[in-house]
Amino acid sequence: MRLFIGIPLAPAVVKELAELTSRLKSVSDGLRWSAEAGWHITLQFLGQTSTEQFDCVTDGLRRIRYAPFEVQLDPPGFFDRAGVFFAGVRLSPELVGLQAQVVATTKPCGFVPEERPYHPHITLARDKGGRQGLRRLKSRVPADVQFSGFRAEEFLLYQSFPGPGGSRYEVRERFALKADAQA
Ligand code: 2AM
Repeated sequence: MRLFIGIPLAPAVVKELAELTSRLKSVSDGLRWSAEAGWHITLQFLGQTSTEQFDCVTDGLRRIRYAPFEVQLDPPGFFDRAGVFFAGVRLSPELVGLQAQVVATTKPCGFVPEERPYHPHITLARDKGGRQGLRRLKSRVPADVQFSGFRAEEFLLYQSFPGPGGSRYEVRERFALKADAQA
């Protein structure tokens, strides 16, 4: 199974992002828009995971004690090389701390930490191969768009089912952040 770990968004933030994406979307825009029900901030992409690794990861993640914290969104941006349009997420010590704990937890299960610096974001659309769609989109994204933030109360283990129209995500396990734990 193909898994990743991420933070789901609060409904109010989903609404703000959906207002923007509905204004930007159009038929044959050359983009594959991600389904709002699956919007998330990835903490770690695990990829192919065996059942033994699944047990190891879930055991480990259940042991994490971490307090809820505020997540602030940043303006939208683009990963040009990957062809991705995203909503930015501000790097905070709390978010970096949780991401580091997740990565440390999955390491003994056989997952190699990424060497690239953590760049949290919410993928809103991907180009379908050509670069035209993203280029056209760039000129239409309002320069002054701002999003609010939300309180992260949990993180989730997601299973990803890749398909021709994009990936579908199912939640396999939920892990609550607990107010009595240290952030
Ligand atoms: P992305 O949205 O920027 O592509 C599920 O695919 C989640 O894991 C997505 O949020 C995706 O980020 C992230 N991810 C990180 N590394 C990945 C990889 N090597 N392959 C697929 N998804 C990856």
